[in-house]
Amino acid sequence: MRIGDRDWRTVWMEGGVARMIEQRLLPHRFEIFDAVTHQDTARAIRDMIVRGAPAIGAAGAYGLTQVYREAPQGGGRVEFIERGYELLRATRPTAQNLFHALEYVRRAVEGEPAERQAEAALAAAVEFADRDAEACRMIGVHGAELIPDGATVLTHCNAGWLACVDWGTALAPIYAAHRAGKKIRVLADETRPRCQGANLTAWELMQEGVPVEIIADNAAGYFLRRGEVSLVITGTDRVAANGDVVNKIGTYEKAVLARENGVPFYVALPTSTIDPECPDGDSVTIEERDAEEVLCARGMDESGTMRTVRISPPGAKARNPAFDVTPANLVKALITERGIFEASPYGVAECLQAEK
Ligand code: MRU
Repeated sequence: MRIGDRDWRTVWMEGGVARMIEQRLLPHRFEIFDAVTHQDTARAIRDMIVRGAPAIGAAGAYGLTQVYREAPQGGGRVEFIERGYELLRATRPTAQNLFHALEYVRRAVEGEPAERQAEAALAAAVEFADRDAEACRMIGVHGAELIPDGATVLTHCNAGWLACVDWGTALAPIYAAHRAGKKIRVLADETRPRCQGANLTAWELMQEGVPVEIIADNAAGYFLRRGEVSLVITGTDRVAANGDVVNKIGTYEKAVLARENGVPFYVALPTSTIDPECPDGDSVTIEERDAEEVLCARGMDESGTMRTVRISPPGAKARNPAFDVTPANLVKALITERGIFEASPYGVAECLQAEK
């Protein structure tokens, strides 16, 4: 996507270095973080320098490429690769795209002699990232049909191009509709505690010239009840075989509010987010992050320094689940690169069998 006069991807690889937009500094500073080793890449995923299910997947694929590059050619190679694979796999537990990407690269390398493995892994990782970008572009093509001219779209967290390699999932239909000349307005939930909506969604929509207003997380019901929202679109970190959707904490309550107010609630995803082995949303491991994220707020002060400030009593305890489960029956449809599908066991199976 375009920032100023240049097209960017969220994550890519150059000379064995996994390069990525440093998302923790946005919207204040635009910097590129260079992950030189696979340990750096693992840390970048864990610390959310790169985040969003598809972007984590692509970063994981490049990280595994680094593992094959760094592994000794002789003794200990197999063990080194296994350790690197497990390190990357353990970075974040919820997004299916990470596991999908690691398997994708590992399968491509199978059967290759040791001296060819790094090259084969890189080719697979690049292919994975390119496919993700194309899938997201197609999500935009299909999803734009669902957005009427003049619509106000509510979205939660950041499921834009920063969360993917390019285009985004929930925001791809918005970009496609906007580029086609439809007048669209976006309400972006701020998405405490990490504020991906306020920091990232607002920033990337503004880069593209899409009108956006940030709302407090607890304001969504107000706007839905007043009839000010035409439709809701979110992304997802994992879709279970029964159509349940796991996404950023707070998604479930938006879906309940949308149902209560008769507003369609859509979920956009590349098919690499579907986990057919997972029977339902309650079987997914939900990441619980550091309580400090809830107890504090982070931003830039007037001198341009990033600061964390405490917004809770010293010694207070907090809970910080990063994701929740939205039952399939609250989801109007799944928007994928293969078309629009019902959020149900039947719809998920149909999507997985659909023409690629
Ligand atoms: O914790 P994050 O920022 O990685 O969570 C991101 C989300 O929950 C997104 O909505 C999801 O990954 C879909 S991204 C296209």
